[in-house]
Amino acid sequence: MALMTVRREVTTALRILLLGFGNVGRAFCEIVEEKAPLLRDLFGVEGRFVGIATRSRGCVSDPGGIDIGALLKKESSTGRLGPAPSRGGRDAPSAAEMVREMDYDLLVVCTSTTIQSPEEPKSFICGGLQRGKDVITSNKGPLFLGYREIRDFAAAREAIFLFEAAVMGGTPFFSFTRHCLTGSEVLSCEGVMNTTSNYVLDLMVAGASFDDALLDARRKGYAEADPTFDLEGWDSAVKASIIAQVLMGAPPVPLEDIEVQGINQIKTRLLLEAAHSGGALRLVSRVEKGKDGVAITVRPEVLSPSNPLSRVHGATNGVLFLTDTLGEIFVAGGGIGPRHTAFSLLRDLIEVACSRKGGREC
Ligand code: HSE
Repeated sequence: MALMTVRREVTTALRILLLGFGNVGRAFCEIVEEKAPLLRDLFGVEGRFVGIATRSRGCVSDPGGIDIGALLKKESSTGRLGPAPSRGGRDAPSAAEMVREMDYDLLVVCTSTTIQSPEEPKSFICGGLQRGKDVITSNKGPLFLGYREIRDFAAAREAIFLFEAAVMGGTPFFSFTRHCLTGSEVLSCEGVMNTTSNYVLDLMVAGASFDDALLDARRKGYAEADPTFDLEGWDSAVKASIIAQVLMGAPPVPLEDIEVQGINQIKTRLLLEAAHSGGALRLVSRVEKGKDGVAITVRPEVLSPSNPLSRVHGATNGVLFLTDTLGEIFVAGGGIGPRHTAFSLLRDLIEVACSRKGGREC
């Protein structure tokens, strides 16, 4: 069903500083351009990129708005966004300087995630929040390290901090709980949260070897730089820990304190038996509220056909919530391609824009 378009008379520019111009950052620029008419007509907002920073391909800024089409052409012909570092004169400002010094309204942190070193993206996020800027991110590292600290830091500065794209790409999750489960208590949440593992399992059922399936998942860009992080269950554990912190107020936990088993030792015979019974073997992350706090586990499980998670296939994610008000709620789909993840960032951008305008349209 198409939303009724209400043409807004007044359009406000939302000046965006983007950190990271990998697949997701690029897709985010493209989707903001593509959705410009909708942003303008439905929400009265013009997303304007005033700065883009990368770690090794330079930084660009233009207070009047960067021409994204021209930038993409320049990048494909020179491999860079900004000028190469000079030997003598003053170099272009770094990402950290741009965060500290530029005029912008929304900081988008799309840098690549490394759970081992979440301090740098956290410093970018807090650098923006410190100045009262709204921040959205696709980077799960800082959330895993300590969600509540960042949330409180943002609240103290009356800034908005959103992270829909950080967990399960395009699958509606935090926005869903914030808007559709408001007033409910989430008692438990179990899900297929790692796409790489799910994709590999499905290809193995279809006859591929583990190695070939993984190669395909890597080619498609689903896997982390180190795919053992996906296959041994650590990525699922990180996501489950973030969910426990955000939805259940759990403290951050070190990875080694989470009970984790991945799919790296799975035998094809087990997968086929599960499939022949009408169900499926899935890598399930479980987050449960109990008397002694929140319990998190990650392990492969044979699911019966009646479990909706058994129908989460390929490069998608799915989550089954148990709530105190509605019982079970199942959300699935979305996937983690760059465009899906960029769409989650767009969703956060719209929420920031609406909130700044008084929140009526969200
Ligand atoms: N490697 C992750 C996955 C990417 O396969 O789900 C998204 O976090």
